[in-house]
Formats: sequence, C-alpha cells, structure tokens
Amino acid sequence: MSPWRLFAVWLLAEGAWCASELKFPPGFKFGAATSAYQIEGAWNASGKSPSTWDTITHTRPHHIIDQSSGDIACDSYNQWKEDIKIASDLGLDFYRFSISWPRLLPTGFPDAINEDGRRYYDNLINGLLEMGIEPMVTMYHWDLPQRLQNLGGWANPKVVEWFEDYARVLYKLYGDRVKTWITINEPFSMCTLGYAMVAFSAGVTDQDVGTYLCIKNVVMAHSKAWRLYDRDFRNKFGGRVGIANQLFYLKPATKEDEEIASLGHEFFYGLYSHPMYSKEGGWPAGIERVIEQNSKKAGFARSRLPPFTDEEKEIARGAYDFYGFNYYSSRIIRRRGDEEDLLARSPFKNIRELNAILEVDPTWKKSSSFWFYVYPPGMRKLLSWVKDQYGDVEIVITENGYSSTGTELNDIDRIKYYRDHLEQVLLAIHKDKVNITGYTAWSLIDNFEWNEGYSTKFGLYEVNFNDPKRTRTARDSAKYYKNVIKTNDIEIPKSFNIISDEL
Ligand SMILES: *[C@@H]1O[C@H](CO)[C@@H](O)[C@H](O)[C@H]1NC(C)=O
Ligand SMILES: *[C@@H]1O[C@H](CO)[C@@H](O)[C@H](O)[C@H]1NC(C)=O
Repeated sequence: MSPWRLFAVWLLAEGAWCASELKFPPGFKFGAATSAYQIEGAWNASGKSPSTWDTITHTRPHHIIDQSSGDIACDSYNQWKEDIKIASDLGLDFYRFSISWPRLLPTGFPDAINEDGRRYYDNLINGLLEMGIEPMVTMYHWDLPQRLQNLGGWANPKVVEWFEDYARVLYKLYGDRVKTWITINEPFSMCTLGYAMVAFSAGVTDQDVGTYLCIKNVVMAHSKAWRLYDRDFRNKFGGRVGIANQLFYLKPATKEDEEIASLGHEFFYGLYSHPMYSKEGGWPAGIERVIEQNSKKAGFARSRLPPFTDEEKEIARGAYDFYGFNYYSSRIIRRRGDEEDLLARSPFKNIRELNAILEVDPTWKKSSSFWFYVYPPGMRKLLSWVKDQYGDVEIVITENGYSSTGTELNDIDRIKYYRDHLEQVLLAIHKDKVNITGYTAWSLIDNFEWNEGYSTKFGLYEVNFNDPKRTRTARDSAKYYKNVIKTNDIEIPKSFNIISDEL
C-alpha cells in the first residue's frame, strides 16, 4: 500500500475526519428551553400562590445581583403567543418549558386546581401543537409552593408524596398531548448548590445535612413519579419520563487527581443518577463510603447521606426512559494542599466533602456569569461518562447555551459556543457511539437568571425589559441555530460575515 493510501485508511479507521462533515442522524430533534419562574411573570395573577423564588426575591432582594425579581420577567403569561411564534420561526422540533406548581396548585396540593393556571398551560400546549412543535414539559424547575417550603420542602420526605400527587394532576390534565416529561430540573442546583448558598430555591442553608436529605428525596420523588406514569398512564398515552441533570466535567489536575475526579463526578451527579440508571441501583459506592466515613469522624450517629430501604432501592432502580443532560461548564479538580484553606462554601470552588479544590484553566473563556467558563471538550467527556456508567441509555441534551451581558444582537461568542458544543455532540454520537437523540438550546429568550437577575442573558432572542410588551428580537445566534436545524450543518455560514481570528 502506498503511504497515501495507508494514511487514508488510518484516517477512516481513526475517524480523524473533520467534524464539520458529520451530521446529526435521522430523527434527531432540536429544541429550545425556558422555565416558568424565569419567563412567566404574573407572580400573583389569578390565584397563583407565592413560590420560594417569590419569597427570596421579595424578602431578600440583596441576594439578587441587580435586586430584581421574576414578578414580570418576560411576561410570558400574557405574551405566550410570541414565544410560540419565535419557536416556530426557529423551526424547533420541540419547546421545553416548565409548569409552575403554585400557579396550577396554589395550595401545593391537588385539593384545588387553579382554573386560570390550568388554562394557561392548555393554551400553550395546544398552540405549540398547532404549529407542529412538540411540548417537552418540566414538572419542576425550582419554584416550590412556599407553603410546602414552610413544611420543610425538599428536606421533608413527605415531598416525595406531594410531588407524586402533583405529577398525577399533570399527567391527567396534559398527558394526552405531552409525550416527554422531565420530572425535576437540575437537582444539583436544587440540593448541592441550593443548600450551600444562602438564597437559592429553598432559601435554606445546610450543606452538611440538608443537601443529602434533598438528594434522597429528589431521587425518590422522581422515581415515584416515573413509576406512576409507567403504571397508570403509559399504556394510554405512550409518552416518556426522565430527569434532567446538570453536569460539570471535572478534569483531574494531575494523574494523582484521577481518583478524586471520579469521586467528584459521583458527588456532583452520580448521586442523582446511580439510583435510577445503574444496573445495581443505590448510591454510587465510592461517595457513599466517603460521606459515611466523614460523618462518623465528625461524631454523627449515622451517615449524613440517608440510606435506601430495599424497597426504595427497587422503586428507583430503572425508573427512567431517557437521561436528560444539561451542560454548560467544567472545572479542574485537585486534592487540597495541607496548608491550603478550604475557604468558600461555594460548590463552584470546592467540594468540601472530598477535601477537593475546583479551579479553572486560565485559557478557558469566561462568560458573563461568575460560574461559567467555556470548555467544549468537557461536554463530550461527560456524554461518554454517562455511557460508561449506565450503558446505552438514550440521552436527550436538555440544556446547553451561553451567557453574555446581552447588549449585542450580533452575539458572536454565543454562536461560537453553540458551534463548538454541537461539534462535541457530533463527535460523541459518531466517534464514541453515544445514543443522543435531541439537543436543547438554553434559552429561547432572555430571562430572569436567578441570583444573577437580568445582569446576564442566555437568549437566542433578546427581550426588551424596558418595553411593557417585552418585545422579542432575534439575535444572530437565533439565525445561526435556525440554519443548523434547517441544513443539519453546524458550520457558521459565510454570509454571517463574522470577522474574528478565532473563528
Ligand atoms: C400583584 O403584585 C403587584 C406588585 O408586584 C401589585 O401591584 C398588585 O396589586 C398585586 N395584584 C394582586 C391581584 O394582588
Ligand atoms: C437510541 O435510543 C432509542 C430509544 O431507546 C432507540 O430507539 C434507538 O434505537 C437507540 N439508537 C441507537 C443507535 O442505539
């Protein structure tokens, strides 16, 4: 064989092709996402009761960078037809939005369904279907009815039952038209971040104990809601139910840090995945041992990570139809040095349970969010991690996107972020044979970014928050994404005239 022919064979064998030649497989679906508290506004309209986020923004505004709230947000409660219109302009296959629990069930319980809330989601779902867009519905995106928080919220094991009752209402009201359900969005943010930060969803800080109560209850709430669908609704409606995890790739700083990186992955999302997605079920063994040992050493009578009963373990094991995968950013992980303080409580900076420091590579570009540094290869690594851990589970990428200050419609950095991450998705599909069936851009429109308020924007569409109508305007990233969906080509069209050395 001539050297050239050999080279060609090597190219093919290694898959050393240009990623831009790769295509998304037939049937692959594209969507964009939002969540109720971040876009709806109408915080007190027509019988809606306050959520934990109404409480946080109203009673502790200093915890929000610009002291803002979601009181009006994008006014999607009134402007929902605009959201459907732009979703249709983009050519989306599906639109992922969330239902506000306190809007639908103001008491938190199914004893009273709020008619205006019921109708709002009915209209949204029907409007999407009329435009040929599938609704992908998140049941819970962090806006717990405040009443349930007063009763302990996600730290109270009763929340498992409360959530199951809420899920039953949703399946009954909307299950005939909604075929993809996400039970809970990013339990990492709710529990791991949530109980470490003063003002996140719960409004309660208790990193050592609260975090783990929350984790176990989230796992059981999701699993019971899945069992309920499987038992009582699947035959009738033929839909599917999953959970959406937020994953940070933890890159070992040195060879010696590989073990701690692996424990870090178990801590960050293994705890939320292993009980359902692993063959054996239960907690991931490594991190379970670490928490038990740390608890004992500190003088607790038992592990701070609540165990599963055999029955609970079986309820959770296999309770999924797909793996929802949210990715934004990565960290470098290393063991803490003897002399080094483990200062911040922030899970973005360290994992106290593991005595590990989290850092970023100085070459990783920073977005406008304090926690968000760009490292595209991390996404592919994590997609493979899911496959390595849980086998050939179907993965739906339920969030991925970029934050900027949002002053420009010509958002080159966001376009580049999408292009580079879509490339990683293609490589994961074609080279690593990961079964990825959909991709969701976060977000369809600028919105209330939790503790960052309106200081940072994720929208494909800009929202004018000074305009009472909250006018939506396409950014260049919207045009780029529309082109990807239409042409199945991730490269940035020449016509975009992007003048940048980096591209
Ligand atoms: C809702 O809240 C606004 C302030 O955000 C207030 O002006 C209005 O009166 C409230 N409406 C109801 C029905 O309570
Ligand atoms: C991916 O998962 C879906 C859903 O389980 C399945 O229908 C499909 O055959 C899988 N594709 C591959 C390539 O394994």
